[in-house]
Amino acid sequence: MSTTPTAPKSPRCKKITTYTFQEKKKKHEPISMLTAYDYSSAQIMEQAGVDSILVGDSLGMVVLGYETTLPVTMNDMLHHCKAVARGAKSPLLIGDMPFMSYQTSPQEALRNAGRFLQEAGMDAVKLEGGRARLDAIRLIVSAGIPVMGHLGLTPQSVHQLGGFRAQGKLATAGQHLLEEAQLLQNAGCFSIVLEAIPAKLATYISKELEIPTIGIGAGAGCDGQVLVTHDMLGLFDRFTPLFVKKYAELHGDLTQAFKEYIKDVENRDFPAEEHCIEMTNEEWDKFIS
Ligand code: KIV
Repeated sequence: MSTTPTAPKSPRCKKITTYTFQEKKKKHEPISMLTAYDYSSAQIMEQAGVDSILVGDSLGMVVLGYETTLPVTMNDMLHHCKAVARGAKSPLLIGDMPFMSYQTSPQEALRNAGRFLQEAGMDAVKLEGGRARLDAIRLIVSAGIPVMGHLGLTPQSVHQLGGFRAQGKLATAGQHLLEEAQLLQNAGCFSIVLEAIPAKLATYISKELEIPTIGIGAGAGCDGQVLVTHDMLGLFDRFTPLFVKKYAELHGDLTQAFKEYIKDVENRDFPAEEHCIEMTNEEWDKFIS
């Protein structure tokens, strides 16, 4: 690996902001978002031209190996947000507030939200839930921190939901989700993630709202889309939700690369001459004499 740091190359120097999100909704231009947890991935995503990067608490499952997102801490999130912020500048950077960092009180929520911007270079925060989160959202927004909501399958409530299950499939549940989306909009959210809900319902909610919706497992009628990067790259193989499209099969590709490396080491085919550091004969003679 090269030891010389290179400045990130970006095809777009224009910063994407919450205002850009709003403009894109008005112009019916879809918003692209991906999750990232490290410097290199963030840099590649920026070069590819993604609109927004979410440092999701899915970190807990796809990077840290937990069964759920619940064990993820503020320190985990800030650590990975800082790495992402070093890798990408122009996409809108959103830090996901982890379990118990915003549920205890609006004041605690504000303090923790502030850390994402002040310490970790994020532009906005995301938190899960509807009605019960309104006071926290209002307080965070009143401090000038943009908040993205998250409705439908909210993974931090996995035990209350009885597993990672689709939501809003009954008419009453759909009505409830629409009301909650409107409440989040009125509380000042600049955008809302809709996760694992029927496509028809997500399209309806997206049309009713003035702020953009970002869908994951919510069909093509949302104003934008997000995927967990480890899912779309085929890197996380514990399970793949039905709504994921795989754009690569990195689990298989990496296994193959690791196997070739091990074979090369065992056969002494690596390192070859071009991987070795030179020493002149003159210096070598001095050394052995
Ligand atoms: O944590 C995460 O990656 C998320 C996305 C699934 C929206 O919340």
